Amino acid sequence: MNESMQGKVVIVAGGSVGIGLAAAELFAKAGAHVVIAARGAERGRAAEKKIKKSGGQAFFVQTDVSKAEQVQNLVGRTVETLGRLDYAVNNAAVGGRITRVGDHSEADFDAEVAANLKSVWLCMKYELEQMEKQHPVGGAIVNTSSVNGLGGAAMAALYSMSKAGILALTKSAAQEYAAKKIRVNALVAGGFDTELLRGAVSRMVDGDEERIRKTFDGFAAQVPTGRIGEPREAAEAVVWLCSNAASYVTGHSMIVDGGLTAWAR
Ligand SMILES: NC(=O)c1ccc[n+]([C@@H]2O[C@H](COP(=O)([O-])OP(=O)(O)OC[C@H]3O[C@@H](n4cnc5c(N)ncnc54)[C@H](OP(=O)(O)O)[C@@H]3O)[C@@H](O)[C@H]2O)c1
Repeated sequence: MNESMQGKVVIVAGGSVGIGLAAAELFAKAGAHVVIAARGAERGRAAEKKIKKSGGQAFFVQTDVSKAEQVQNLVGRTVETLGRLDYAVNNAAVGGRITRVGDHSEADFDAEVAANLKSVWLCMKYELEQMEKQHPVGGAIVNTSSVNGLGGAAMAALYSMSKAGILALTKSAAQEYAAKKIRVNALVAGGFDTELLRGAVSRMVDGDEERIRKTFDGFAAQVPTGRIGEPREAAEAVVWLCSNAASYVTGHSMIVDGGLTAWAR
């Protein structure tokens, strides 16, 4: 991505590690001022420091994006400090419980929907409010979904359901806000080497190191490119979707999966 994002302001929710951190780094490299949101302060501050050390502009706002008042504070602090909001990446999520549909508890359902779906809606609610009232009006939002949300995934129904919900939220908002010059797209991520994926695999095989390695190898073998992606490879798509190069792209679900779902689409 060669386009300059100098002077632009971006919130990356879930930007302290993984795909979010990779996106935050690319935005900063393009010249944008990055606001990193996550719950964990240590990793959030480390991400801020890493970006600043390589010459970028960033600050961390400790936020649980499943809580309305904390999201309001995040957007409020961003605008108070930097004057506006140009882009937002709603990327925070947790891996869910690995179990069958009928074996989830009601508490699992509520917790997972709050963490992985309500959080994205809450972020959009306050980001859209800001983007439509600022001058000049407008902005671009990217919500992180998953290939699990294109169909469903055995033993991961609540995660998959949340990710499918994100696609519908994205497409609805894209239609509602296009006239306000706000574009809303989704990243549909395949397998990327992050803590979230490692944690999910580890829970599947009860933390057995040998089986974790075998599961990763087996998964990589199913991907036409023969490997699991690097977070930067997902982040490149996120930054492009926000950029002017994507000025006519809205309501899109951009699949970045090394060809994993090519057979089904
Ligand atoms: N990795 C994959 O293979 C894969 C595949 C498909 C989709 N995705 C999606 O890609 C996105 C990024 O995943 P990742 O793999 O990069 O995960 P990751 O490395 O675990 O990073 C998740 C980020 O979200 C933050 N977060 C989680 N819950 C939060 C909350 N309630 N409020 C604020 N921040 C929160 C985490 O920080 P704290 O824990 O400190 O809050 C962290 O910064 C997620 O939406 C995930 O579902 C990933």
